[in-house]
Amino acid sequence: MSLPDKMKAMVTMGHGGLDQMVLHKDWPRPEPAAGEVLIKVAACGLNNTDVNTRSGWYSKAVTDATTGDAFEEVSDEDPTWGGAPITFPRIQGADICGKIVAVGDGVDPELIGQRVITDGWLRDPSDPGNKDKTGYFGSERDGGFAEYATTLAVNAVPIRSDLSDAELATFSCSYSTAEGMLTRANVTDADTVLVPGASGGVGGALVQLAKRRGARVIAMASDAKHADVAELGADKILSRAPENLRAALGDEKVTVVADVVGGPYWPNLIDVLERGGRYTCSGAIAGPMVEFDLRTFYLRDLTFTGSTVIDPQVMRNIVQYIEAGEIKPALAATYPLEELREAQAAFIAKQHTGNIVVIP
Ligand SMILES: NC(=O)c1ccc[n+]([C@@H]2O[C@H](COP(=O)([O-])OP(=O)(O)OC[C@H]3O[C@@H](n4cnc5c(N)ncnc54)[C@H](OP(=O)(O)O)[C@@H]3O)[C@@H](O)[C@H]2O)c1
Repeated sequence: MSLPDKMKAMVTMGHGGLDQMVLHKDWPRPEPAAGEVLIKVAACGLNNTDVNTRSGWYSKAVTDATTGDAFEEVSDEDPTWGGAPITFPRIQGADICGKIVAVGDGVDPELIGQRVITDGWLRDPSDPGNKDKTGYFGSERDGGFAEYATTLAVNAVPIRSDLSDAELATFSCSYSTAEGMLTRANVTDADTVLVPGASGGVGGALVQLAKRRGARVIAMASDAKHADVAELGADKILSRAPENLRAALGDEKVTVVADVVGGPYWPNLIDVLERGGRYTCSGAIAGPMVEFDLRTFYLRDLTFTGSTVIDPQVMRNIVQYIEAGEIKPALAATYPLEELREAQAAFIAKQHTGNIVVIP
């Protein structure tokens, strides 16, 4: 099969607003190096990691909520998820569904033609267990907002599914993050899990994956999205930020809060945790700075777990659950790659439930 030398790609040129993403129609197609595969991208999902990396929100100098706009205070020293500088131009996009069309040295050519989704966590092949040596697809190397992308062969995970390419491109980041959080908090069927932001990519995945573990799930979401969140299987749905959360919960005993929202409402989430409860967190879309009363933490014997870099097995489990039909996609909309700016604007506006995907 002959492959073109050039490709269409949406290239992020630097930190800033949506205008930093520039469409190129003659960007060099990447070649797979030893141990890598070349994927023809059929669909690529959007995530806040892309938004935050572009805007520089991860920089500790930024203390606002995620807005998707430029932040003037971004430091060049720590603008990425891992707290390191980034190289531009960069093709972002972590959640590819596509087919392997070429392989590098040392990779089985039988993989050509295989349908795959990507595991975004790029582990050092010589030290894969070392989480300090981990990069993220679309951040520390080019990702999927393009017609072609290369990645480590181990990060292209084979999948057999009747779901569409766009549906399959909704899973990787959100669901593996959610499963990582539930694993860190040891969620079981004995738990009642409170999920703020349940209408979002990670929140919706938390609802489904906590239900899959047999837990009782109480979701929090904007009222207009309650019908969608109910379809994900939540046992009870509360509004985004009830004035009196304890009263809204009634007799419910919350043993786990699984949170990607944070922000000003955060102390209310901690206050409703039962003695010995667990708080697990993977994001802070409503703001990273929270008011933390240490007395609630220690007097109630709480456990806090942060969760970001996940073990490879988590992604393989997600693929198994997809193939078994145990979890379903929440695809809100698709856009052509050329309209990635519009897609991200819609993604940031949060009028939707679930994930948004671009098609090259
Ligand atoms: N650590 C990791 O590896 C990792 C991976 C993926 C995501 N994340 C982080 O997790 C966070 C959520 O990601 P996501 O993809 O689930 O986001 P998303 O799809 O945009 O959903 C976020 C949800 O939060 C709710 N929300 C409540 N208060 C909000 C506020 N003040 N501003 C915006 N939204 C608010 C919204 O639901 P309602 O309108 O219904 O309230 C929205 O649907 C982000 O900070 C992201 O960076 C981290």
